[in-house]
Amino acid sequence: MYHDFNYEATLASSIRAQWQLDDVLRTDQELDFSRNFMPESLARTAAIESLNPFEQRVLNQISAHQYLSIFGIVEEFILPFLFDHARPALRGDDWRIRALLNFASEEAKHIHLFKRFHDAFVRGFPVECRVIGPSEDIGAEVLRHDPLAVGLVILMIEWMTQAHYLGSIRDDSDLDPLFKSLMKNHWIEESQHAKLDTLIVDALAEGRSEEQIDKAIDEFLEIGGFLDNGFKAQAGLNLDALEKAIGRKLEDREAVEAQQHQAARWTYIGSGLVHERFKATLESLSPRAAERIAEVAPVFA
Ligand SMILES: [Fe+2]
Ligand SMILES: [Fe+2]
Repeated sequence: MYHDFNYEATLASSIRAQWQLDDVLRTDQELDFSRNFMPESLARTAAIESLNPFEQRVLNQISAHQYLSIFGIVEEFILPFLFDHARPALRGDDWRIRALLNFASEEAKHIHLFKRFHDAFVRGFPVECRVIGPSEDIGAEVLRHDPLAVGLVILMIEWMTQAHYLGSIRDDSDLDPLFKSLMKNHWIEESQHAKLDTLIVDALAEGRSEEQIDKAIDEFLEIGGFLDNGFKAQAGLNLDALEKAIGRKLEDREAVEAQQHQAARWTYIGSGLVHERFKATLESLSPRAAERIAEVAPVFA
């Protein structure tokens, strides 16, 4: 076994680490728009030489709005996925069902938290930032795939939030403290989710032939491609908002759009694909699955 995760221990850790919404963001708290929200390794806005430092910060904040929105969309499809997975075995292992329901309840709380942050963002930002969607349609498209493929997408996402906080955010003192606390508190609860996702993927993969695993990887890549198209469209919407906010058109808009699309690819896909724990799960499914994902990972770097 490549991990020692189990439902009982994960539930216990989850309950110990739980926080309340108001501990992270009360409805009367405001973001500090004089600061960056996202770490540079994810937003990559300071690398755009055609923007002045003020404009880079505005785009950094738009990139944070994207983060809130994308995670809102993702958590909305995690919720029904969990219910579908839990329902057939409601009378089985008590630790399992309690851990899964607690997981679902935490994701519902995260959706609530991301909305609260979104409201705070809208209160302080001068123009509307449009978002791809509607989220129901994106969720329906993802969920029509093989549950193993969806489970792998969710596993990748939960591990990536670990990498985002520990790798880029924790030690970055330039960021708005409230936005940083969002990332921190999300990370705290997600670390137990990633373990449960691993157990879910194990269960969904059980008894599958090499060919069936291969088919699930096809579908995983299909979902990745679908989400990636969304990130491309979102990069365009982000630059619309930037141009409106700074009151000028970008001369090198096409290049900036491609650069920001690549930043989103890394943030929402690439940083999960290369996570050691995610790779370990793929390896346990089949070395060929791990190899196939390793081949596409550089596209999302
Ligand atoms: Fe979450
Ligand atoms: Fe989660």
